[in-house]
Amino acid sequence: MEPSNLIQELQQRMPLQRFQHVLRVTETAKSLARMHGESIDAAETAALFHDIAKFMDAEDMRELLLAQGVDPLLFEFHKELWHAPAGAIIAFKEFKVHDEDILNAIRFHTTGRAAMSKLEMIIYIADMIEPGRNYPGVEELRLSAEGPLHQAMRTCIIHSVTHLIGKQVPVYPDSIECYNYFVK
Ligand SMILES: [Fe+2]
Ligand SMILES: [Fe+2]
Repeated sequence: MEPSNLIQELQQRMPLQRFQHVLRVTETAKSLARMHGESIDAAETAALFHDIAKFMDAEDMRELLLAQGVDPLLFEFHKELWHAPAGAIIAFKEFKVHDEDILNAIRFHTTGRAAMSKLEMIIYIADMIEPGRNYPGVEELRLSAEGPLHQAMRTCIIHSVTHLIGKQVPVYPDSIECYNYFVK
């Protein structure tokens, strides 16, 4: 698919605000990729697709995920988590994205996981620090993103897990494993 067609397709699947977030994540991911010697094209593709399923109907998303044999444990957690694996499935099936690292960067952009690849960390971090984000602590995360990638990922996952625990909501096992991995 031509890049301009992809942009149109993305725009049709989400409200303008979310689409602008996607573009900001893409620019942030590309600059992180440049800094850390990752493929800029791969960062761009993963970032453009990362929220493609965000506004999909929840029941359609559940069906899609079940049909692909996703661990049903996912459905015991907030729907907000579903769009990441659903996005990877859509990128693969509808847009013929077959690069496993790109698909994993989409799949794990919400939860993180242990032993993330460079690209996975870049997308996770870019999603948290893109310039439109505005929450307590985001400046500290942006600063950490100027240093080593592992250190930045560590700061981001500590922030995310601490935030969830503060809200007293369940934490998906991949995020706990991610936290344990990066604090060790
Ligand atoms: Fe997302
Ligand atoms: Fe996002």
